[in-house]
Amino acid sequence: MKRILFTTQFWKGSRNYPQNISSLSTQVKVKPNYLNGFLLQRNYSIKATGLDAGSETVQVEFSDGSKFDYPSVYLQDNCTCPSCYHPSSQSRLRKLTELDLNNKVSTIKTLPDGNGVECKWMDGHTALFSEEWLKARRFTDDNIKIRKTTPRDNPRLAGSDVTFPRDSFKAMLSDDQKLLEMLQTFSKTGIYMLEGTPLEVGQLRKLGDKIGFIRLTHYGYEFTVKSEPNAVNLAYTSARLGVHTDLPYYVYPPGVQLLHCIRQYAGNEGGQSHLVDAFRVALQMKEKYPEKYKILCEVPVEFFDVGTDYTSFFKVHHSPTFVLNPENGSMVRVVYSNQVLSSYMPLQQELVKPVYEALKTFTDLCYKPENLIEFKLKEGEVLIFDNWRFLHGREGFDISKGHRHLEGCYIDWDEIYSRIRVIENSQRK
Ligand SMILES: [Fe+2]
Ligand SMILES: [Zn+2]
Repeated sequence: MKRILFTTQFWKGSRNYPQNISSLSTQVKVKPNYLNGFLLQRNYSIKATGLDAGSETVQVEFSDGSKFDYPSVYLQDNCTCPSCYHPSSQSRLRKLTELDLNNKVSTIKTLPDGNGVECKWMDGHTALFSEEWLKARRFTDDNIKIRKTTPRDNPRLAGSDVTFPRDSFKAMLSDDQKLLEMLQTFSKTGIYMLEGTPLEVGQLRKLGDKIGFIRLTHYGYEFTVKSEPNAVNLAYTSARLGVHTDLPYYVYPPGVQLLHCIRQYAGNEGGQSHLVDAFRVALQMKEKYPEKYKILCEVPVEFFDVGTDYTSFFKVHHSPTFVLNPENGSMVRVVYSNQVLSSYMPLQQELVKPVYEALKTFTDLCYKPENLIEFKLKEGEVLIFDNWRFLHGREGFDISKGHRHLEGCYIDWDEIYSRIRVIENSQRK
């Protein structure tokens, strides 16, 4: 028999993150009888395999009685032979142009101890699929749901009476379990407060590096929120800032914002922060003003930003206020900032007033006492919020009465999701 070396990476499967299999230690060579990797985690095995009459579907029966069907074309595309699959990169080598849709399975058999199946095609390719690989990829409604679930699904909506989840900043830098719990909770709540952060710049970079990396924008890796003359952004003044999402003029606005309070304005009046859960307000709109809700879902408005900071920039982007997932209508993100709403309105003239009416209703709802979360950041706190969901703003302050110094940065949801999976995966070992 031809001896082929597989790495256990292979058994973790290509591309897709395994849901119900434990991750095996990486890059350990297993013997060509392809059993070692399986035995580590096996709690079920394959009882029988079969083929439908037209060889279109492979049927697999597991020892727990479950039976799942796999389209032959799908297994062919996931062929594990050395000419089709590159194990260390977990990538396909074969181009889709080379996939023969008329190729048929010639033989399918259960491996001697039920740990997997060997599948041969008419064109001579032979693939091995472990029981774990197959079961994790079953084509069932429950599995589709598992695969499509993201950490931000089923958000816990927040009104003005919300209690911020809190933890220590330092714990995030030293304890992966704490970091995981924070990121999981934050994905649902969209807000999180870390405390006990040293009162000096550079702390966000440490946290960003722990999660993944900071998202660079034309305001740099980090930005400083201090009032300054001839400010390029209204945030860099002492003016009141209406609630908004940041960087709506980016095609891909940053997912998460972090604000580290290094020095808080000492005066009693002013400097308060505002947050609004725009997902919650959008729901209120959908119920009470469905026509206006529809306008905000369907009509893009233009945002712009021009100036020089980290680099010279001239950003323009059109987005509807409510960006929905086309598959299920759920809210992906809210894009809203009256500060940088462009004076160009590339709309039919008749739509202008309805858009303003809808935006005004949305804004009025945001400022209702039940929706407006008001608080004053304390020195040493790091506020983290979902920039695709929470609007933020602040009261103005009088700089003659004291200074205020925040450092901010962005991190994308991709990096947060990724860190969650990396930590979860390392815990399965
Ligand atoms: Fe902002
Ligand atoms: Zn192949």
